[in-house]
Amino acid sequence: MTRPRLVGLSANVQRPSKTRTLVDAVLREASAQAALDARILDFVDAGSGLGAAWTRDRLPPPARAVLDAIEEADGLVVGSPVYKGAYTGLFKHLFDLVDPGALAGKPVAIVATGGGLRHALVVEHAFRPLFGFFGALQIPTAVYASDADFDDGVLTQAGVRARAAEAGGQLAALLVHRAAASAPVALAAAE
Ligand SMILES: Cc1cc2nc3c(=O)[nH]c(=O)nc-3n(C[C@H](O)[C@H](O)[C@H](O)COP(=O)(O)O)c2cc1C
Repeated sequence: MTRPRLVGLSANVQRPSKTRTLVDAVLREASAQAALDARILDFVDAGSGLGAAWTRDRLPPPARAVLDAIEEADGLVVGSPVYKGAYTGLFKHLFDLVDPGALAGKPVAIVATGGGLRHALVVEHAFRPLFGFFGALQIPTAVYASDADFDDGVLTQAGVRARAAEAGGQLAALLVHRAAASAPVALAAAE
């Protein structure tokens, strides 16, 4: 059985990034619980050409590589900083370019970071409708962290770490289940 491909996509436009750290935390928790082919990408990888491309065919190669990774993944951890009470415009722009059928039935974990707690429910009221549009299999636990949950760039808050572990576990279980369900069945020799 080939390893399920898990892609973490963080919409940070600078590094270091709290969002990238949180996406990475969920990715690592999932990888600790199942044999996954996991990688993390962010908008620094995509480059500034992402924002200038109005259609898929105008994406420069680095941004196209990020789009391809999203569409080819078996599961995703998606994360964005909160900008003005929602995910960033560039995050939505990237998903506007994703094929509408590419995420159907695929496990997706949602994370977000913000300056404070005021917009903690952004994971529920902004992200979930978007991934509902795609028909993605959204895992129950979404993870939000604010500035106070990090110490010098390290995610230190125990409650958020626990939620990241919970989300990673849910994601790993779904990925393994789906991989097993789609693996070719060894037919018993004809008797
Ligand atoms: C343009 C802009 C708008 C922001 N709007 C919000 C907001 O509405 N609510 C909030 O809690 N934080 C807001 N923030 C703070 C960021 O969401 C927060 O610092 C985030 O953790 C940054 O993530 P990063 O380290 O991955 O870039 C905003 C930051 C910027 C730059």
